[in-house]
Amino acid sequence: MPRHAGGADVLTELRTATAVEHEQVETTLGLMDDRLGRDRLVAVLARLHAFWTAAEAGLDAWAARSPADAETVAWSRRRRAHLFAEDLRALGAEPDTTALPELPAVEDTDQALGRLYVLEGSTLGGTFISRHLATLPTLGPDVRLGAFSPYGAETGAMWHAFRRVTRDRVAAGGDAGRVVGAARATFTALAAWCAPVGAPA
Ligand code: HEM
Repeated sequence: MPRHAGGADVLTELRTATAVEHEQVETTLGLMDDRLGRDRLVAVLARLHAFWTAAEAGLDAWAARSPADAETVAWSRRRRAHLFAEDLRALGAEPDTTALPELPAVEDTDQALGRLYVLEGSTLGGTFISRHLATLPTLGPDVRLGAFSPYGAETGAMWHAFRRVTRDRVAAGGDAGRVVGAARATFTALAAWCAPVGAPA
């Protein structure tokens, strides 16, 4: 793993700095619960749909200002709010974006990569979640959900590409502290936004 002057690798720092928030979100969502019912799944998907909608709006504004950087990280391939909407419809629910979380603006590419770390990292746990949901009687044999594992067999490749772009950015003078700060802010906002759909203890 390459190291850069000035401290630990930015990806290692991102993981360490957000480990508590990850755990919190994982527990709150309770998606690996064997008794996960349709209504709770819909509530969680609705929450994630609204979160992704708000998080992507900030990234879209950044991409409009920094199209070359957005292209480098293949931003247009990484949008996922529409997949949460499709999953909700597949479960017979209507997506609703009248209430959205308030997220900090994405001021630059460092902050964009920090936010993307949270959104893209979720595809890793997402492969386990997808596999688990497919075993639930909740869904029945005909419902296939797509938002948790949007890249399928390309999950590893998409994650590696994200990591490479982020390391390159820091190696070229990007501010690792701003990347990590944006990731923490995104994760904290996600944990707070998901608290109301917390799994029963
Ligand atoms: C929307 C909610 C979630 C977000 C935003 C999220 C975010 C992340 C991030 C950023 C990483 C990358 C960690 C790193 O290597 O730096 C990650 C990895 C992982 N997450 Fe999550 N996660 C979410 C939900 C879950 C849930 C519910 C589970 C429970 C199964 C889970 C399990 C995992 C696992 C097992 C990994 C490591 C996968 C690997 O290293 O191959 N995540 N997640």
